[in-house]
Amino acid sequence: MKTKLLTTDTNDILIAADIIKKGGLVAFPTETVYGLGADALNAKAVASIYKAKGRPSDNPMIVHIARASDIGQLTPRLSPDIVTIIENFWPGPLTIVVKKKPIVPSKTTGGLDTVAIRMPDSKPALELINHAGCPIAAPSANISGSPSPTRAVDVVADMNGKIDAIIQGDDCRVGIESTVLDLTSDVPTILRPGIITAENIEAALGKKVEYDKSLTEASKHIQLDPADGVGESDFQPKSPGMKYKHYAPKAQMLVVEGQRDKVQAEIERLKGLNEQLGLKVGVILFEEKAFIEAAHNFFSNLRDLDNEGVDMILAGALSDVDGVGLAVMNRMLKSAGYNIVTVK
Ligand code: TXA
Ligand code: MG
Repeated sequence: MKTKLLTTDTNDILIAADIIKKGGLVAFPTETVYGLGADALNAKAVASIYKAKGRPSDNPMIVHIARASDIGQLTPRLSPDIVTIIENFWPGPLTIVVKKKPIVPSKTTGGLDTVAIRMPDSKPALELINHAGCPIAAPSANISGSPSPTRAVDVVADMNGKIDAIIQGDDCRVGIESTVLDLTSDVPTILRPGIITAENIEAALGKKVEYDKSLTEASKHIQLDPADGVGESDFQPKSPGMKYKHYAPKAQMLVVEGQRDKVQAEIERLKGLNEQLGLKVGVILFEEKAFIEAAHNFFSNLRDLDNEGVDMILAGALSDVDGVGLAVMNRMLKSAGYNIVTVK
């Protein structure tokens, strides 16, 4: 398939909107990451997203709308919490999970009776949805399992030839995907951390927010012995159930955590050891406390290192994290398949 490479000019957005109307696939920028969009109410179109991404078809998608009031199309009931969240955070990088109306195909929600909805804070995204005249289902526009795309070039690398069009806009401002907040029960629960934090949401709702159990369990660390040289075999996940890779670069990846100066020293040491073995080693080490910047750069750093052809990526865990830092660490640990070494 020949993929149309479009700009964010209105004429091009109209072409893209027409493709969506006809059941086609268009990648487009949002403030978080690039999305791979189709008419959310057209089950056949949505099915082709799964195909283009190589994604399991039971994975539910986020439905993007251009006006907050359009949520009424998708969900039967607006609780006070839903209204407060929308008023405080839309348009923006916060997705809410709510009960779905029958009009939303089960293909879009992975068979669930709930639907994830957000209004993105991005002019080209909002224009696209408006002109298409339908809500747009869009997962991140990467091949399933690989790092989320935050730049037009990343989308072209993964999706050129597989979808109808790519709107090539600016780099994404946020850099990690939206916070996903489940509002289907009395206790609002964060299913995926993002740049809008539990504290932000608690301040708006005036009540406690929980993290989903899978998030806390997934962060249980796997310890490797830092005294060992790190060869290829040390990079195999050692805990059953942790094999699943998400956001994974092509290179092997190890996260080094601990006190900042020790982390830096250990990364240097491991880099030296592995370079002696003839491996090409890339390093990701963010400024202390610069969590917003880390979020902005994390996925693009992974992709740049892959493009340079490194064999191994050594990443320094963020320390003293706030909510945003937690969201970055969630991605970093998944990318590394939970390969972590702790320096003491
Ligand atoms: O920032 C973002 O959210 C980007 C941009 C393109 O908007 N989209 C994105 O989509 O990251 P995706 O498909 O990669 O992630 C969707 C997340 C998954 O963690 C999925 O499990 C969750 O939302 N999700 C979607 N529908 C859900 C539902 N009904 N119940 C629970 N979780 C749901
Ligand atoms: Mg994704």
